[in-house]
Amino acid sequence: MLIKNIHDWEIPESQATPEHVFLNRRKFMAGLGAGALSIGAGAMGINPLFAAESKDPTMDLYPAKRNMAYKLDRPVTEEELNLTFNNFFEFGSSKRISEEAQKLKTRPWEVKIDGEVEKEITIGIDDLIRKVGIEERLYRHRCVEAWSMTVPWSGFAFSKLVELAKPKSSAKFIRMETFVDPDVASAQKPSVFPWSSQSKWPYVEGVTIEEARNDLAFLVTGAYGKPVAKQMGAPLRLALPWKFGFKSIKSIVRFTFTDKRPISFWEELQPREYGFWANVNPKVPHPRWSQATERVLGTGNRVPTLLYNGYGDQVAGLYKDMKLRPEVLFR
Ligand code: MTE
Repeated sequence: MLIKNIHDWEIPESQATPEHVFLNRRKFMAGLGAGALSIGAGAMGINPLFAAESKDPTMDLYPAKRNMAYKLDRPVTEEELNLTFNNFFEFGSSKRISEEAQKLKTRPWEVKIDGEVEKEITIGIDDLIRKVGIEERLYRHRCVEAWSMTVPWSGFAFSKLVELAKPKSSAKFIRMETFVDPDVASAQKPSVFPWSSQSKWPYVEGVTIEEARNDLAFLVTGAYGKPVAKQMGAPLRLALPWKFGFKSIKSIVRFTFTDKRPISFWEELQPREYGFWANVNPKVPHPRWSQATERVLGTGNRVPTLLYNGYGDQVAGLYKDMKLRPEVLFR
């Protein structure tokens, strides 16, 4: 096969570092006071991973009112765990990119809406957030690597952005892009990953217009009652809780409405393993591991995975008339 060990998903799930080992290692590193950033912010009594966010111009909107329609069947994952166990390949292929990700400058930040729309728009993130308003929702998050978390996200329904964009009837899909800045995101430099000659930054993801209009599709601006941390995808990321986590693209700069199905970053690299639909289904294994169960991070529990990650009532209807093979709809 052309691409070998391209990322952590290439490692059999059984060999991945259990999070308690990983977290203890991190606490040990923190105890050593590694890095000027940590020392400076630490001296001021601020969590170094939040230092930059204290200047966020939308801070007054947090914590946002919780929408009680979105409930969880398990406790919220500890914030520290969510802040220190991340997939953000622009900053490296390990889970420990949180400090590296602090280099990302999230203001000014413009979001472009273009393609098959009545009028193209470029809007500053703070104007966008104030225009549409935010709420809090509790969501599950299921990574293709067979671990899961639960997150109190803040943000707004994707449907509000679709409304703002005024798509033409020719628009069937939305293609989304993350920033490109190799000076900030060092893994975007050529030759950082052995596979980078085959990868094409930016990170790209896509959804159908119907998926974007589904009530569950959520554009995230915050988490844990404050603006979302950089390593989690500030200032704007997606949350699609019924799909594998790689669909939830981080730090979005562009939404393009199009009549063509977008090809995502991972699909381009490894189409047999990471498809466009990527809906969660315990009965459809990843080619190299089972998806029947998941490790709930921070609990030591392994629980059965649910069809559409437990959100079937809200989303199964989107796919009922599609005659797609399970390996296509669920991978
Ligand atoms: N978005 C970008 N731009 N780059 C990435 O590497 N990783 C994806 C997704 N969005 C990724 C991304 C994957 S694989 C997952 S599981 C989630 O982000 C992880 O989100 P978290 O770090 O907040 O848990």
